[in-house]
Amino acid sequence: MSTDSQATTVADVSADAETILEVDGLVKRFGGLTAVDNLSFEVEKQEILGFIGPNGAGKSTTFNCIFGTYDPTGGTVRLRGEDVTGKPAYEMVRKGMARTFQTFRPLPDRNVLENVELANVDDDLFTLSGLFGRKSSEAAAICERVGLGDDMYKMPDELPHAGMIRLEIARAIATDPEILLVDEPFAGLSGKEVAGLSELFENLRQEGTTLIVVDHNMRGLLNLIDRAIVINFGERIADGTPEEIRNDPTVQEAYLGRSER
Ligand SMILES: Nc1ncnc2c1ncn2[C@@H]1O[C@H](COP(=O)(O)OP(=O)(O)OP(=O)(O)O)[C@@H](O)[C@H]1O
Ligand SMILES: [Mg+2]
Repeated sequence: MSTDSQATTVADVSADAETILEVDGLVKRFGGLTAVDNLSFEVEKQEILGFIGPNGAGKSTTFNCIFGTYDPTGGTVRLRGEDVTGKPAYEMVRKGMARTFQTFRPLPDRNVLENVELANVDDDLFTLSGLFGRKSSEAAAICERVGLGDDMYKMPDELPHAGMIRLEIARAIATDPEILLVDEPFAGLSGKEVAGLSELFENLRQEGTTLIVVDHNMRGLLNLIDRAIVINFGERIADGTPEEIRNDPTVQEAYLGRSER
């Protein structure tokens, strides 16, 4: 009897799985270089998807094409079934997407709290100030949420490296995203800091957020994610569960093949 009810639950969960993001045949060329080469994948709601590949594989470029920073050369991006290919970043934010960048981009002359209040108000996205300006109390709650409760009145450059990443995440979640693209959050962090940040990501997922996370820290990433897609030279070379990725010779080869870097 208990077996029956368990089977029903599993079937229900997979029937309920809802695709939030669909990337189909994505291509991005820079002159003669094909940075993203006919890439297709789907992300389910509340999934934590790892997006893996060696340096220069095309991970950030894929993020840039999905988020509207770059216009893709070909292919389509669908968010909740809606074709959003080539929509500018501020529209993607309005539609429920946010991202963090590999290089930090806080407003250097504003403290942590003000940075969260003014999330996404930067040179590229100045039009969002009216849309996403946050009340101080809301911004303070977001600071607490990401573990910066004691650092709200510090300037960004007074934060340790791990704090900078948390600020970057705070600025992203201040726009209430349904899906969050995170580019190399674990770079330069200790094992303990990686675990702390992973806990934050897991909590965000529990609250309903979908995450795509890029990182070279395999151990940290594979502990966090449900599933990964691996790319090399812009093409998908593998996908699967953390266990499958760990044991995939193609993945090991892609990394080892570039170990001279
Ligand atoms: N704006 C650009 N103009 C020209 N070439 C670019 C541009 N952006 C990226 N590229 C090239 O596209 C390829 C993919 O770069 P991308 O930054 O997406 O890789 P990545 O997987 O994010 O690498 P990393 O792990 O080092 O961050 C690289 O060969 C890179 O030099
Ligand atoms: Mg990158």
